[in-house]
Amino acid sequence: MSAQEDSISYRIIADLLEARTGQQIDRGRRWRIPTTLATVFRKRGISNVDQLVCLLASPGEERLADEVVEALLNNETYFFRDRAMFDQLDDHVLPTLREKRAMRKRLNIWCAGCSTGQEPLSLAMLFRSQKALWDGWTIDIVATDISSKAIATARRGIYSQFEVQRGLSVTQMLTHFEETPEGWKVDPALRAMIRYRERNLLEMMDPDQRFDLVLCRNVLLYFDRPTRSRAFDIIHKTMADDGWLMLGAGETASSLTSRLAHVPNTIGLHQPVGLMPAKRQAI
Ligand SMILES: C[S@@+](CC[C@H](N)C(=O)[O-])C[C@H]1O[C@@H](n2cnc3c(N)ncnc32)[C@H](O)[C@@H]1O
Repeated sequence: MSAQEDSISYRIIADLLEARTGQQIDRGRRWRIPTTLATVFRKRGISNVDQLVCLLASPGEERLADEVVEALLNNETYFFRDRAMFDQLDDHVLPTLREKRAMRKRLNIWCAGCSTGQEPLSLAMLFRSQKALWDGWTIDIVATDISSKAIATARRGIYSQFEVQRGLSVTQMLTHFEETPEGWKVDPALRAMIRYRERNLLEMMDPDQRFDLVLCRNVLLYFDRPTRSRAFDIIHKTMADDGWLMLGAGETASSLTSRLAHVPNTIGLHQPVGLMPAKRQAI
């Protein structure tokens, strides 16, 4: 790492991102800042991080901070990312919830950090593939992200050829999307299963909301430990007592919260602590 990457200007940019989103750029990764901000630099006619910081402090440049934060967020996602995790939902979580919510016939699902929509759409496709099983049910999928650009893309529901090919079979592509001059447009009925919201997951959701299933995958990786703990406490408060949390493949809540326990023999599945052992759904 050069002295430049440890300079006050690089730190100011990293602090801005952390203050707005909780995401940290540790010192070893700060060298990437100018490359990641290349579009902002070009648009504003600036060539380095020092100039950017000066501009950020100028009157009338309030929106620039939003642009910088947007550009620094990592929105990497694709359909059915880590497919084995969707198989877990398919094989165990959804059958369990179908049994437990049989009277209510309603499932509340939250995709926290949904990026451009591929994750909630994958879930919607999963439900659609089991249409007969969920006949008469209300499946409410709320998908949130702090990035207004990502949410706008998700709401638009149009994906490039490259994006639809990442994770989808040709059959899925042709079943759920229509090719248009702008790209592959998701079937409006599938899109209508999801309510997109721009939201920081570190801010409490509606306190009366109780989700049966929360997906928060590949979002908390760049939070520091105290912020990750806070996020888990917030997520836990939104979960049904017997609800499920699915983290990313390499993520765990263990040692960061006493409120959630990893479900043995699963990838990234957690349930609230306090659930009677007999009720906890070991797989
Ligand atoms: C790497 S993407 C993961 C997308 C998807 N969950 C997946 O696994 O494919 C991380 C997403 O988390 C969002 N994010 C980061 N910090 C956030 C926060 N504090 N609140 C809500 N979303 C956040 C980013 O904008 C980004 O879209």
